[in-house]
Amino acid sequence: MNQDDLKRMAAEAAMEYIDGGIIGVGTGSTVNHFIDLLADVKGRIDGTVSSSEASSERLKAHGIPVLDLNATGELEVYVDGADESNRHLHLIKGGGGALTREKIVAGASRKFVCIADESKLVDVLGTFPLPIEVIPMARSHVARQLVKLGGTPVWREGFVTDNGNIILDVHNLRIMEPTELEQQINNIAGVVTTGIFALRPADVLILGSEDGVKTIK
Ligand code: A5P
Repeated sequence: MNQDDLKRMAAEAAMEYIDGGIIGVGTGSTVNHFIDLLADVKGRIDGTVSSSEASSERLKAHGIPVLDLNATGELEVYVDGADESNRHLHLIKGGGGALTREKIVAGASRKFVCIADESKLVDVLGTFPLPIEVIPMARSHVARQLVKLGGTPVWREGFVTDNGNIILDVHNLRIMEPTELEQQINNIAGVVTTGIFALRPADVLILGSEDGVKTIK
């Protein structure tokens, strides 16, 4: 099985958490499998709230309604991928640059189901460069503060988020205390969102593996 088969396996397993209502939908290649599977049950859900323009387009192409979070209230379930997860279900997200809307929809959902292939499970977060969404005028200021925290920020040049901001990818971090670092980075003026999802971790991690689906709660 290749990595894409494992991603699809995780997406299939997430379908058991879908039981009508409005579904929060994340972003990325694993979630794309989930969106395609959601199309088969679209008559049984009331619609979706999407975390990116890319996912919205894919949902709409399947004829699945995309709703405004301001009109839906709290969601029952949010399904999204991750770039890394530890065993506490603290995540690094934002490889696709959609971290801010992902964090909003995750925060507005009762259950966060994270889907990934098994390569995403790590002992310590930080090998994957940590994405930070930043207001453009604060780029250099925020980068200097991130260096003080021990990281090596690299500007994702040429990339603009759905919110019109830039991304700094922070290399060389070994994140031993994810909730503390999430709060510290959140406190830097100019930071919109950090890709650490620890204050609101996943509730369930579904991993596609060569030995079948593994679930961590
Ligand atoms: C998007 O901004 C990210 O948070 C994705 O959830 C993450 O990059 C996972 O992507 P894949 O499913 O493509 O690995």
